[in-house]
Amino acid sequence: MKFGYFDDANKEYVITSPKTPLPWINYLGSENFFSLISNTCGGYSFYKDAKLLRLTRYRYNNVPFDSNGHYYYIKEGDTIWNPGWMPTKTDLDAYECHHGMGYSTFRSSKNDLQAELTAFVPVGKNCEINQLTLTNNSKETKDFSVFSYVEFCLWNAMDDMTNFQRNFSTGEVEVHGSAIYHKTEYRERRNHYALYAVNAPVDGFDTDRDSFLGAYGENSAPEVVVSDQSKNSIASGWAPVGSHHLKVSLAPGESKTFVFILAYIENPVEEKWIGRAEDGKINRTRAEALMKEFDTKEKSEAALAELKKYWDELLSHFTVSSSEEKLDRMVNIWHQYQCMVTFNMSRSASYFESGIGRGMGFRDSCQDLLGFVHLIPDRARERILDIAATQFEDGSAYHQYQPLTKKGNSDIGSGFNDDPLWLIAGTAAYIKETGDYTILDEKTPYDSDPSKATDFMEHLRRSFHYTIDHLGPHKLPLIGRADWNDCLNLNCFSTEPGESFQTFGPSEGPNAESVFIAGMFVRYGKDYVEICRHRGLEDEAKLAENAIAEMEKTVLDAGWDGEWFLRAYDHYKNKIGSKECEDGKIFIEPQGFCVMAEIGLKEGNCLKAMESVEKYLDTKYGIVLLQPPYHRYHVELGEISSYPPGYKENAGIFCHNNPWISIAETVVGRGNRAWQVYTRTCPAYIEDISEIHRTEPYVYSQMIAGKDAPNFGEAKNSWLTGTAAWTFLDVSQYILGIRPDYDGLTVDPCIPSTLDGFEAKRDFRGVTYHISVRNPKHVEKGVASMTVDGIAVDGNTIPLPTGKTEVSVEVVMG
Ligand code: BGC
Ligand code: NOJ
Repeated sequence: MKFGYFDDANKEYVITSPKTPLPWINYLGSENFFSLISNTCGGYSFYKDAKLLRLTRYRYNNVPFDSNGHYYYIKEGDTIWNPGWMPTKTDLDAYECHHGMGYSTFRSSKNDLQAELTAFVPVGKNCEINQLTLTNNSKETKDFSVFSYVEFCLWNAMDDMTNFQRNFSTGEVEVHGSAIYHKTEYRERRNHYALYAVNAPVDGFDTDRDSFLGAYGENSAPEVVVSDQSKNSIASGWAPVGSHHLKVSLAPGESKTFVFILAYIENPVEEKWIGRAEDGKINRTRAEALMKEFDTKEKSEAALAELKKYWDELLSHFTVSSSEEKLDRMVNIWHQYQCMVTFNMSRSASYFESGIGRGMGFRDSCQDLLGFVHLIPDRARERILDIAATQFEDGSAYHQYQPLTKKGNSDIGSGFNDDPLWLIAGTAAYIKETGDYTILDEKTPYDSDPSKATDFMEHLRRSFHYTIDHLGPHKLPLIGRADWNDCLNLNCFSTEPGESFQTFGPSEGPNAESVFIAGMFVRYGKDYVEICRHRGLEDEAKLAENAIAEMEKTVLDAGWDGEWFLRAYDHYKNKIGSKECEDGKIFIEPQGFCVMAEIGLKEGNCLKAMESVEKYLDTKYGIVLLQPPYHRYHVELGEISSYPPGYKENAGIFCHNNPWISIAETVVGRGNRAWQVYTRTCPAYIEDISEIHRTEPYVYSQMIAGKDAPNFGEAKNSWLTGTAAWTFLDVSQYILGIRPDYDGLTVDPCIPSTLDGFEAKRDFRGVTYHISVRNPKHVEKGVASMTVDGIAVDGNTIPLPTGKTEVSVEVVMG
């Protein structure tokens, strides 16, 4: 069952009922100012950091779900309704929500009054625009009221929901004409405030929540809206809000447009203290200038058109055209869109991530880069250096950092031993895309301390050596607190029955080892070797090659279980992910990574591992993380077995590692299977089961309940997942096979044999490649011939052209 449809021409998903199984959201903003907006207008905004600079308040776990947002109430006679249906939930005569690239449009009507609301963040601006057009489709004149409503957050979202003894006394606002200013904390910090304004004279306003809603009131029926009368309240403490009252009169057929602006304004540091003696009044200069930029419908529409152009341009760097409509839709629009969102948000703010719990993840952001780097390479470069600056001098790293301060989060600390290798992965992707080796020379701090800086190349060296310097009893990499699988905590013990686990300290080991990290080491170690050679570091390149060869041997000796790769050894040297285990006999992660690293490819281990995945882990909705699930809690395994069978890391379909398997299948040349794995979790291909899947049908979710869970097929944690980058990598670089490499673009498709071929356009290092792939023999993999601008070339890497900006490439598979 569907709740909408894809509109590819407009790059939108159109939701046709407000009653989707869960709120289906979109993200506005692509650089500093962001909003989350659901298909019923729920959501919130923040500047740079969802924890530290939150503009509007949102209540996770609210009842009803998703009942705070940026709302517009229309009151005509006794009827009160909202263009996005919530929070009044008044039945609408028409409703559509169009989630597009960086904007959402709501088209609804009630009693022949039509509303069109478009919310977006203009390119390069720190504000959200809400353009509201009202049209009278009746034969009578209509007189009605519009009330806007946002609830301000007192900036630090964590304090905002915990520190009420202070918060109830700090709230302050100013109102000047149609502009409402939220200036809590300005008295002390004087550098920022929020603005909520409309481009028309108002008939009233409110800034105090209790005045607007009424005592014990709720936003489904605010007292001010019900009585059709603003109170012009000025908040003092308690809960500041912003509401404008507009009385509107429309002749039959007439339309009127209002432009609302919600902005974050920051005074430059040098101006921060100007006017300190003036009793804390805000400096409105910047706000007034910004309001002028959006004070007419024409200006707001021009900004929306500019945003659309921005996205058209971004998405034009990689496009495909094939007989598979859903493939084209995903590659040309939604994969890349989700990659941008995960790059911006990491795992911080979604409807499943509160914006408070997690900032930017070290491993997460390095992986997000893989799918983002072709979009805006400069931002990827900056991000790599930001991430590296949170590394410690021994190569280990803070697991997370705050986007605002760019400093490591000491509450979470370090100890995830896969982290350093992801830095090599992200850097290699950046260099392959851009050919820019100058990044290696950038002076980059450790632990955000500029006095402890080296060039960036040294960060890579320390990352690589961190693994070699931390090997365990079998010479496999020590896992530390966990590797990619945060919940596999193998250095655990408990002293008392029923007590939660503790971890071994350095004096007791800790001994647990990871076959997964070994796979990563081999795969990304090869990139490290290439980078060393390019810099003329031949001794280091040789040393690394030897360490990689040694690790491959170790994996085949100590990390192979007969039919698949083992997962790990725990602190007591017991095998994890082995046929000898009671539960958790086979895990997905080492199969993906060891095969991508081609460990035992010639010896047949890779194919065998892929066959085992298919045999033991496959389901109709995707591949589960492990089998059988842990049925009971194992203190020595940590968090993993705390989940009920079939959820999350305990045998859920963890979407993030499905593309690893799809890519691994391309390594063994099985295009049909790579395709099957790709399509089984791919949003466009499973849109028809939206009532089972429940999350947004246009983006990936982190997890789908596995076959051992009661709700098999139900997804959770939509949007912010490494699945976004990895599936784009899978489909673009391994299935379609258009892969940036150090010396040029490689074309190496591994497709379903039924596909006749495809056309692609790829911008790469300033050149546009028009690539045509034909598959006359209906093979799954293999390039029989390649011509570049009509000239046959050896192999399947396009030599870097000189003096050309357009290149035509013809590839025949066979
Ligand atoms: C989740 C993991 C997540 C981790 C982050 C765990 O509870 O299951 O998926 O990576 O928390 O800290
Ligand atoms: C989500 C985390 O963000 C990611 O870093 C981790 O690899 C997966 N969960 C698996 O545990």
